Amino acid sequence: SWTNYSIIEDSINRIRSQVGNSHVICALSGGVDSSVAAALVHRAIGDQLHCVYVDTGLMRHGESKTVEATFREQFEIDLLSIDASDKFFSHLEGVTDPEAKRKIIGEDFIRTFEAAAKDISGAKFLVQGTLYPDVIESGTKSAARIKSHHNVGGLPEDMDFELVEPLRELFKDEVRAIGEELGLPEAIVWRQPFPGPGLAVRIVGEVTRERVEIVRAADRIVGEEVLRADLDKKALWQSFAVLADIRSVGVMGDERSYAYPIILRAVESSDAMTADWARLPYELLERISSRIVAEVQGVNRVVYDITSKPPATIEWE
Ligand code: XMP
Repeated sequence: SWTNYSIIEDSINRIRSQVGNSHVICALSGGVDSSVAAALVHRAIGDQLHCVYVDTGLMRHGESKTVEATFREQFEIDLLSIDASDKFFSHLEGVTDPEAKRKIIGEDFIRTFEAAAKDISGAKFLVQGTLYPDVIESGTKSAARIKSHHNVGGLPEDMDFELVEPLRELFKDEVRAIGEELGLPEAIVWRQPFPGPGLAVRIVGEVTRERVEIVRAADRIVGEEVLRADLDKKALWQSFAVLADIRSVGVMGDERSYAYPIILRAVESSDAMTADWARLPYELLERISSRIVAEVQGVNRVVYDITSKPPATIEWE
């Protein structure tokens, strides 16, 4: 549209005059905000942009591939993709406390990114996908923190970069519209919000490669079936799988099973501050449940979380 076109033009001019001939780095997460910010900056300054993607081992199915296919192949952006999963898994060994997990992942992420950034010599600027609501929120410093948030936009300021924040005046729906205009794939533009610490906060108890495989496989099925059900993409804020650390008895064929349950979580929300559990159609719940139990090794039961926020939070940790 004309409005999006002029927002893009305007933003390109501002980015160019801010950075001049300098080099710029950007931490990509695969999410909407950092992706649109990167695409916009690339439109403005081309090869002066260098992106870094950290694969924590805690990403959703296909996420790393989508990021590489989109940014390296489609946009031809200089992208450094780092598989840092060994480090994350070894530091998470034996850790079950939710805040401890978040802290470890946040710190590992920053250290990994810092090391990568050092190799991009001469970069003076850092792209952040800060949106207008983030600006407002950090200005008002709301109530006590429930969870320590980690996100790619929140890299420490002492990293000695000047910030480039092309989305500072925009709301999420405008960011999505611009992403579409810039040619980003639907899988990125309409991606549901995903916590910085990734699948780790969707695993109650210890995070191991095996347990990540379980929750990732279940999450993939949830995503596929929700997409197939063709629900209104704006109505459903998030839908995902959580792996519990309890086991229950079941029966498969003639055999007794003793395995983990998957907790299905789906909420409607407009800003994640409050959320209502989604009244998903029974047929959809049925398909998700049968597929998860049939296809995901180590799971023998699926339960549905019918708690709204508050009093529950959207994520389990
Ligand atoms: P909760 O669980 O607090 O989540 O109701 C609210 C929204 O925030 C997302 N979330 C995060 N996003 N970094 C993020 O960027 C984080 O550390 C993080 N933790 C939760 C969550 O998915 C939901 O949309």
